[in-house]
Amino acid sequence: MTPVFAAPCDNAIVLYVIDQASCETWLQTQPDQVAGWARANGFKGAIGQVLLVPASDGNGPAVALAGYGSAAQRARQRFTLAAAAEKLPEGIYTLASGGDGGNAIPETALEQECFGWLMTQYRFDRYKEAKAPGAALVAPEGVDAKAVESLVAAECLTRDLINTPAADMGPDQLQAAAEDLAREFGATAQVTLDQDLLEQNLPMIHAVGRAATARPRLIDLRWGDNGPKLTLVGKGVCFDTGGLNLKPGSSMGLMKKDMGGSATVLGLARMIMAAGLPVQLRVLIPAVENAVSGNAFRPGDVLTSRKGLTVEINNTDAEGRLVLADALTLADEDTPDLLISMATLTGAARVAVGPDLAPFYASADADAAAITGTSGPMADPVWRMPFHDPYETMIEPGIADLDNAPAGGFAGSITAALFLRRFAGNSRYMHFDIYGWTPSAAPARPKGGVGQGARAIFAALPEMLNL
Ligand code: BES
Ligand code: ZN
Ligand code: ZN
Repeated sequence: MTPVFAAPCDNAIVLYVIDQASCETWLQTQPDQVAGWARANGFKGAIGQVLLVPASDGNGPAVALAGYGSAAQRARQRFTLAAAAEKLPEGIYTLASGGDGGNAIPETALEQECFGWLMTQYRFDRYKEAKAPGAALVAPEGVDAKAVESLVAAECLTRDLINTPAADMGPDQLQAAAEDLAREFGATAQVTLDQDLLEQNLPMIHAVGRAATARPRLIDLRWGDNGPKLTLVGKGVCFDTGGLNLKPGSSMGLMKKDMGGSATVLGLARMIMAAGLPVQLRVLIPAVENAVSGNAFRPGDVLTSRKGLTVEINNTDAEGRLVLADALTLADEDTPDLLISMATLTGAARVAVGPDLAPFYASADADAAAITGTSGPMADPVWRMPFHDPYETMIEPGIADLDNAPAGGFAGSITAALFLRRFAGNSRYMHFDIYGWTPSAAPARPKGGVGQGARAIFAALPEMLNL
């Protein structure tokens, strides 16, 4: 079930959201019933602190209090309101109106705080019964409820796709998910399957995916007839064993999430279609499994890409850039106004910025500025990385035009991005090297799959594409 706002009702519990610094001042304005109870229970407005104030007749809570902490505390985490919402007992809550210090949430943060609250109700319950969704929220005044719910639905889609193990989220099921989404919004989805990949000149997608039982494919979703052309490319490696350069068990464990890029572009596509943005949207997903068998591609093989560039395989575990390369070439042939790829591409990106930040590359400074600007308000942290031209030599040392896994491993995320840029041609291009996973639970972000960068991109589209 995708979380939504509760319908307004007369018996919703009023929730005061209290800044720590002004907690005592605010309590002084309150009736004894509230102030006395808050003081007796040590309510000080600390971040995530909640308190239900009983009604004098003993009939349910009169009001509820949630701590909003201090600015310094809030800077250390996202989704402050969610931290409290997770602790509130089941019920329907409505935020107190601001003005008298009873609602510390600034207007500019209200929508992302509501997004966070709704995301506390996300459950991945495919394999076991999940605990009840918990506290529900009535959409506060001034919040575009439909817009927030659409961000929530997109994020839930992304998380579900990533969380589903590879046995139930292989290329077949990823295709089905894209087709379901296309059907919901009247988009078309075309699929180039297996041998047809060779006929249609998408050889590297075939080479990476041919060893798996589930057949490799390219999913091509299109929506919208007017406006600028926006093409999203997402890495859809449904499981990454590393291929013949087999990953050790400790590194392979999480590799069901190696389709996180495709899950995230599908979430982003959902936001765009639900909002009816005036763009010509195309989503390309090379969906494969990087598996081991007798016909697996090998270290030392030289592949010829769609673009004609040859690629020496120095590590079959650097497979993401191969499947993306052919998809990017195809995308570029259509001369999009903006081309964006998202991929769980390198371990190096994680070493550089950790799991919380989405590192991204942009060929146009204005696009980087736009994304950096929306990142904060959307609570979707990103960090710009450089397409550092002097490192181009690192990806071209061997017997072919390009090397898929430069020796030494210096600047691994950058060299992967430079590799992809070769195939994006002259397109205005952005690339996100995401992690797609929350390793330890935080408010509104349980351990597991997570979308990164999609909300920041979505909010920046009007500026980037002059919509
Ligand atoms: N899917 C991995 C990257 C990855 C690993 C992302 C762990 C997130 C967490 C990718 O296919 C890969 O294995 N890349 C190699 C490239 C190297 C061999 C050049 C890597 O990053 O080690
Ligand atoms: Zn790999
Ligand atoms: Zn991979």
